[in-house]
Amino acid sequence: MIRVAAVGDIHLGPDSAGLLRPAFDTLGDCADLLLLAGDLTRHGTAREARVVAGEVAGLPVPVVAVLGNHDYQSDQEEAVTRELTDAGVHVLEGDAVVLDLAGTRVGVAGTKGFCGGFAGRSGSEFGEPEMKAFMRHSRACAEGLGNALRSLHDGGSTLRIALTHYAPVPDTLAGEPPEIFPFLGSYHLAEAMDAAGADFAVHGHAHLGTEHGMTPGGVHVRNVAMAVIDQAFAVYHLSPTATVTAGDQG
Ligand SMILES: [Fe+2]
Ligand SMILES: [Fe+2]
Repeated sequence: MIRVAAVGDIHLGPDSAGLLRPAFDTLGDCADLLLLAGDLTRHGTAREARVVAGEVAGLPVPVVAVLGNHDYQSDQEEAVTRELTDAGVHVLEGDAVVLDLAGTRVGVAGTKGFCGGFAGRSGSEFGEPEMKAFMRHSRACAEGLGNALRSLHDGGSTLRIALTHYAPVPDTLAGEPPEIFPFLGSYHLAEAMDAAGADFAVHGHAHLGTEHGMTPGGVHVRNVAMAVIDQAFAVYHLSPTATVTAGDQG
């Protein structure tokens, strides 16, 4: 059994140092890895990222992250990534990392993802160049995720986890105003997961959403925005012997 701790949208600022560290220090007792589902900062500055780095540096479990839209706000996403990487965090964007957790090969594929909407309520690559570019970015993020998941399959990972900031399904947006669903996620992400194969998916971004969802292909999805899970992190138990098994604990 692999114990996956996850949280997104921690939105740390310069005054947040030490806020989550006491909870994160308990991870060695209850989890095998920690996933951070983006929006780790408020305005995406390197200074804020250093605070995030201080919260997770030297933890007893590996830490894997994607960035969120807030982490791009100051056009310092490369510096934000560097601060996290220097603290030992695996920061993913269209790529994957394989972790050996107590003899089980656990692969995490990640992308920030993007907007676009869901079946019957989505944008399309049609019309103005701005609209085409908007939807093209959404598709490119999903393609990056799909390629990363396929690389895990080819590499023989026992468990494959998809980590995004934006939502792959509308289920986990329940509670958000329906008018903004197209800005909260994209069906492209779920299509990539279902086509490439994944055992579990985690996202954030939808602070008013719902924790549980599922892709059309049956991948269990969890919205781990901190405002949704209402704790420093949630822990999910994944069985390496089943293709889709996600038991929740807390
Ligand atoms: Fe957020
Ligand atoms: Fe966000």
